[in-house]
Amino acid sequence: MNDACKSRKKLFNFFFRIRNVFLISFCCIFFYFSLPKELSAIDSGLGENLFKNYCAGCHINGGNIIRRSKNLKLSSLKRNGIDNSEAIAKIASQGIGIMSGYEDQLGDKGDQLVANWILEQAQKAWVQE
Ligand code: HEC
Repeated sequence: MNDACKSRKKLFNFFFRIRNVFLISFCCIFFYFSLPKELSAIDSGLGENLFKNYCAGCHINGGNIIRRSKNLKLSSLKRNGIDNSEAIAKIASQGIGIMSGYEDQLGDKGDQLVANWILEQAQKAWVQE
């Protein structure tokens, strides 16, 4: 057996020995993605953080410190026809009236995450558990 062949064999043996590491990682990844509840809890946490960082300044507890009537309570969202997460996400990223958009700060999908969280809170009347 020449040297090239030996080192190839060594390499093969190395991968053969660490194959369990691959198997276990694949199982972990699969397990992670098969937990929709856990995932949405993480997403919800992200939405909450985004809200605290970029929205709560004016919309503390779902209110509006500048235009009281344009708050995030369910009745107000319904009145203004934005009681769905798509409409809220659009406002979060593009802004509305005198409120500017937060597209750059929210990043990819951030608008959707924060909108879902807001809608969830509105449905619970902004009462924290
Ligand atoms: C600097 C203060 C400020 C910040 C920060 C802010 N908003 Fe607003 N928001 C306003 C004002 C003012 C209005 C009313 C705008 C108008 O109609 O002229 C408003 C309106 C809204 C409305 C419409 C509410 C309704 O009942 O019609 C939504 C939804 C909303 N904001 C979501 C958000 C989200 C999501 C964030 C964070 C990404 C955010 N806002 C951050 C000031 C702010």
